[in-house]
Amino acid sequence: MDSSPSASVSVSLVIPTYNEAENIEILVSRVYQALEKTGRTFEIIIVDDDSPDETWKIAQSFSANYPNQRVIRRINEKGLARAVVRGWELARGEVLAVMDGDLQHPPEVLPLLIRVIDSGTDIAVASRHVRGGGVSNWKLVRRAISWGAGLIATWFLPGVLQKVLDPMSGFFALRKSVIEGTQLNPEGYKILLEVLCRGHYRGVAEVPYTFVERARGGSKLGFRQYLEFGMHLLRLSHDTGELRTFLRYCLVGVTGVFVNSAALITAIAAGMDYTTSSILAVELAILTNGVLNEFWTFKSISKERANTSARLNRFLQFNSFCAGGALINLGISRSLITYGDFHYFLGSMVGILAGTFWNYGMNANMTWTREQPIDGYVEPVTHELIVTEEHI
Ligand code: GDD
Ligand code: MN
Repeated sequence: MDSSPSASVSVSLVIPTYNEAENIEILVSRVYQALEKTGRTFEIIIVDDDSPDETWKIAQSFSANYPNQRVIRRINEKGLARAVVRGWELARGEVLAVMDGDLQHPPEVLPLLIRVIDSGTDIAVASRHVRGGGVSNWKLVRRAISWGAGLIATWFLPGVLQKVLDPMSGFFALRKSVIEGTQLNPEGYKILLEVLCRGHYRGVAEVPYTFVERARGGSKLGFRQYLEFGMHLLRLSHDTGELRTFLRYCLVGVTGVFVNSAALITAIAAGMDYTTSSILAVELAILTNGVLNEFWTFKSISKERANTSARLNRFLQFNSFCAGGALINLGISRSLITYGDFHYFLGSMVGILAGTFWNYGMNANMTWTREQPIDGYVEPVTHELIVTEEHI
């Protein structure tokens, strides 16, 4: 089902669709207008997973008016990210782009994304979370889910996501070389995460846009997609080595519990009062944990800035985040046990989990941050570059 033109092109835009019959023609006409303005040769690749509403057929029916459009109908295959990767495999452009097929991503942003790539950046992300971007009319629940998903992602992939404010965006462009020779494993919904974790790139820039409310058709996001998202994060976290870092961090935390208890017993036995003893014991545990994290857990990061003042700085930061974590732990476990009638053990476990969640999230994202690329992926460095029309 491929009506491919033969000339080579400079920009290939992939539009994955599933039941977008009501949106596709308006979208293609707006994309055409936007891309024609750039003066570049382009192709639009619609990858439809055999939609029951026959989106593919409708798209083919107006192909004569849009000769740069190709329609791929995938039968017996499903999945947003997979469809995008399939489209990119067939693409002939040097610049690859992707956007939704439901008009929630305004095509008018495309020229800017392409110009950002032309100016030397490897990945240009249309972003809701930079100044000038946003979402129109989202209900509180949807905002909360989106925010929570972003938070969990920064927790699983701190090294990768430190500099991208909208890693969940499904609207972006990249230089073909970013993914050439890489094995994308596109299970699930979030193709940009996959590109950020496995691609080869130096710079990422974000361009603001407003995520428009869906006017026609329905979202395909459901429970299954959330579950897949979790699995996807876990796999990426494992493959990038972030999961190993987290496990080390937890192991160090366990040693801290022993140091804490031993110090407390020793101090009390030496005749100190309970409050002074616990403060000393906690501080000693933070000290040993900090040293272990610096020289073991985050070794590859800390050796990038190994001078004493940087180390001291990290230690002080670690200390204050841990103090915050201890307060969260205490606050939550005490309230659950006292007011929520939780069993002592259960209440404490929830408190510890919450404290660890906070501790690791803060320390992995703010205390031990990467400056140099490691392990095959390159830290996005140019996120400060939030590009708007005036800049180019
Ligand atoms: N080919 C194909 N196969 N396309 C699919 C599939 C599939 O299994 N599932 C969804 N799509 C298409 C939809 O038709 C639409 O064009 C696009 O993928 C996005 O799906 P929606 O269901 O509309 O997603 P959303 O609005 O909840 O979320 C979108 O916005 C997020 C925020 O920017 C997605 O694009 C996310 O990737 C994006 O991050
Ligand atoms: Mn949508």
